[in-house]
Amino acid sequence: MKPTHIEHIGIAVKSLEEAIPYYEKVLGLECYAVEEVKDQKVKTAFFKVGDTKIELLESTDPEGPIGKFLEKKGPGVHHVAFAVDDVNDALKDAENAGVRLVDQQGRKGAEGLNIGFLHPKSTLGVLTELCDNK
Ligand code: CO
Repeated sequence: MKPTHIEHIGIAVKSLEEAIPYYEKVLGLECYAVEEVKDQKVKTAFFKVGDTKIELLESTDPEGPIGKFLEKKGPGVHHVAFAVDDVNDALKDAENAGVRLVDQQGRKGAEGLNIGFLHPKSTLGVLTELCDNK
């Protein structure tokens, strides 16, 4: 595996409505998309910072992954996503290196990217996402 850059940083927030003005007015970034990802039970908002994006994640269901994360840890950094050439190849590389996978296969994420997660128990506590844009 050879990531080309950090594709995005996923940040759990209580409310997009409350969080977006901070990123726009204080950091001077522009929210260019808001998208609901129903199967992940989240609403996302995206900002570009060079080649990297900030992905804000608001829960739409307390039983969803972000709902549970907020309950346990509160708002903050949720995951780091690396851009790779091919998610399935990268997942296989990680598995061969002894890393536990959340996703055995790439699946569709926000913005039409193919994504797959590595388990934070195997990645020193950082939930790690791999994504490609094929
Ligand atoms: Co993500």
